Amino acid sequence: MSRTIGIDIGGTKVLAGVVDPEGEVVTSRLRSTPAADVVAIRDVIVESVAELRAEYEVSAVGIGAAGWIDSSRSTVQFAPNLAWRDEPLRDLLAAHIDLPIVVENDANVAAWAEFQYGAARDADSAALFTVGTGIGGGIVLNGDLVRGSHGIAAEFGHTLAVPDGTECGCGRHGCLEQYASGNALVRFAKEAAAGNPSEATLLLKSADGEVDDIDGPMVTEAARAGDPVSVAAFVKVGGYLGEALADMVQLLDPDILVIGGGVINAGELLLAPARQRYRAVLHARSRLPVAEIVAAQMGPQAGIIGAADLARR
Ligand code: BGC
Ligand code: NA
Ligand code: ZN
Repeated sequence: MSRTIGIDIGGTKVLAGVVDPEGEVVTSRLRSTPAADVVAIRDVIVESVAELRAEYEVSAVGIGAAGWIDSSRSTVQFAPNLAWRDEPLRDLLAAHIDLPIVVENDANVAAWAEFQYGAARDADSAALFTVGTGIGGGIVLNGDLVRGSHGIAAEFGHTLAVPDGTECGCGRHGCLEQYASGNALVRFAKEAAAGNPSEATLLLKSADGEVDDIDGPMVTEAARAGDPVSVAAFVKVGGYLGEALADMVQLLDPDILVIGGGVINAGELLLAPARQRYRAVLHARSRLPVAEIVAAQMGPQAGIIGAADLARR
């Protein structure tokens, strides 16, 4: 089996790498995502692929993108957190790259990487929640990635957390993404720091006293150091996540539940309250065998590893 290229298009960075059939990244390149223009993104991808191909022989290209991909795995139809609407990404690339190309959802490719090589490698069925800017989802059922009839299965971020709650980029009010994502974590921490600065001295210090400058890594650092407002923000986000994980168990009864995305760097700060709520709301079921909640293992390269492996198939 041959090497393939995996590419992960995020809101700020485009990561591209050559991946071997064992899931090892042989080499990778990181570039910034050009502002919201799909043609500029195409050029970044074409350049990265040309560079990687100059060094290694590869047989296909797999791309993970943060949006709703059609069932032919070619078009980004909608992206709640990017300005992409019906972008024919695969065809745009195919005009410049003479290799088979597949486009997949970013969380689907991460779920596939965890299933093949990571936290879910011993499972037959798994659900992955990625907690980052938004919330992504991926389902593997009996060894297959679940794409749904229209390519858009497993959009966990847009299931309901709070009726009539905060408006989401998808147009609905109260989506999980508004309550359990990295953005939600920062919003909760900012609100609490503004309302109760004496409980947020560590957090505010890291932002030089400016509530508006608080970002996700600051909340994690401050929570690690015991800042009460930051710890409470994690408890809130973890609680919403735990509720959603319990719903997932009622729907799917998977072997394992995996939490990935940038915010999982916070580890137990996020996992402990999620597990606690999960156990509490599943109180009848949690006496029975039920999926464990674990951290993803593939780290920030999950997307390129999963995309490359899907492209190989
Ligand atoms: C999008 C998903 C994506 C997730 C993580 C959500 O807002 O709807 O398609 O997987 O963000 O990037
Ligand atoms: Na998905
Ligand atoms: Zn939504």
